[in-house]
Amino acid sequence: MTLRVRLVATVAAVALAGLVATASLAAGHVRQAFQRATVERTRSFMGGNARAACETAPLAFAAGVARAPAGTAPFADPALDWSVYDDALVPPQGGPPLDAALRERLERNGGDTAHQWKWSENPTVMESLIRMPWGSGPCAYVRVRRSAPPARWTLWGGMPPLHVGVPVLVVLGLAVLLGMGAPVRRIRRLAGEVGASGKQGFTLPIHVDGSDEITEVARAFAAASGTVREHMAHREQQERVLREFMENTTHDVRTPLAALQGELAAIAESAARGETPAPARVASAIDETQYLAAMFENLAAAARLDSPNMVADQSPVDLTDVVVQVAARYRLVAQQRGVVLEHAVEDPPLIVQADSTLLQQAVGNVVQNAIRCNRRGGHVAMMAHPCSAGRFQLTVLDDGPGVPAQDLPRIVLRGFRGAGPSAHGGPHGLGLGMNIVQRVVALHGWELHLGASEYGGLQVTIEGPAGDGK
Ligand SMILES: Nc1ncnc2c1ncn2[C@@H]1O[C@H](COP(=O)(O)OP(=O)(O)O)[C@@H](O)[C@H]1O
Ligand SMILES: [Mg+2]
Repeated sequence: MTLRVRLVATVAAVALAGLVATASLAAGHVRQAFQRATVERTRSFMGGNARAACETAPLAFAAGVARAPAGTAPFADPALDWSVYDDALVPPQGGPPLDAALRERLERNGGDTAHQWKWSENPTVMESLIRMPWGSGPCAYVRVRRSAPPARWTLWGGMPPLHVGVPVLVVLGLAVLLGMGAPVRRIRRLAGEVGASGKQGFTLPIHVDGSDEITEVARAFAAASGTVREHMAHREQQERVLREFMENTTHDVRTPLAALQGELAAIAESAARGETPAPARVASAIDETQYLAAMFENLAAAARLDSPNMVADQSPVDLTDVVVQVAARYRLVAQQRGVVLEHAVEDPPLIVQADSTLLQQAVGNVVQNAIRCNRRGGHVAMMAHPCSAGRFQLTVLDDGPGVPAQDLPRIVLRGFRGAGPSAHGGPHGLGLGMNIVQRVVALHGWELHLGASEYGGLQVTIEGPAGDGK
């Protein structure tokens, strides 16, 4: 059922109910007027000479009234019937007994008048029992039976309701059709626009005009398609990043893997010849595996940071432990590259609130960069200490070639790789490390400072509040 049909049907139902209620009220009114007229006319008729005539011969009097010719009878009605009763409602000798239902009604009404309508008779008749003003003697009550007005639904003055009802319904229906035309058109247009927009990936605009409920629906649709568009764009962007990332990763893994295979093959050959493999080759193979392991750790950390439901664990971590562990982990790499790795911590513990895995990964990246970007004979220093009230500072500095000032802000960008010295003869790595450092620092609400170290290389400082958070 369309909105328009539903509205017309509702209006018609309400109008019909209204008409029926009005008609029944009007019919009730007509009936009451008829009852009142009967009572008044009967009392005034009986009040004259009729009372004496009645009290003398009640039975004959009543029969005479019923048979009286038109003009002399109180009511011009061929169905008129008249009977009288004394104050105990007993008929005169030979008269018809009083109808029990009518008597009951009279008692219920307080003894003055009672009426009953006989709808089953055709034509409908009304019986009234009326107490006379004197209220005593054989004619204390009169029972009148007369034809009732037509028992159909009537409106004012007996006008049949159809004459009024049909035009009223037609006018109401037309008004609704006219009134609903514009909103229905707008709903149709909205439905069309939403459908078309959906087919085009919600890129087509949805018109929002007016200031009613339809406008609200249109606004909600426009907002919803905006959200869908945003989600789709975000999804596409994520897919593109993932694809590029996969391509780069595959490419970057291939180089160290090929190098590792080369070193291992050479080691195998010399072993086959019964020679001791050259320590430099073994060191290089270890370096490649270290590099690959670090790369995969960074990929895992990046995936964790990228996850929309990422929650950083915030538990007390001893920073001096972190420094000692990272130093131990990179000691061998540093040694093989001829770089001296040193670390200094103040009296432990130096507690910070952190996600221990992410913190280790971030510090490890900074140290790894300082070693890999350094030259043989270089130095890397790592230290953690409390600084101003309730804060810590973790610094890693090296005396390598450093980062050109204009590149400093860019090294934290994902995918940035400098042109510095590398084990693979050119820019290496995924450009992920420093980006992870920056995101981990931001996640904890700490600060990251990058600058030139006083020894010529890079100096990275992480600063934040110390304490176990209690
Ligand atoms: N200590 C450093 N000395 C010189 N250059 C550095 C240092 N640390 C980082 N860089 C530069 O920043 C770039 C990005 O580093 P990073 O984000 O760790 O990338 P990757 O994951 O490839 O190691 C490196 O390619 C390098 O050019
Ligand atoms: Mg790195």
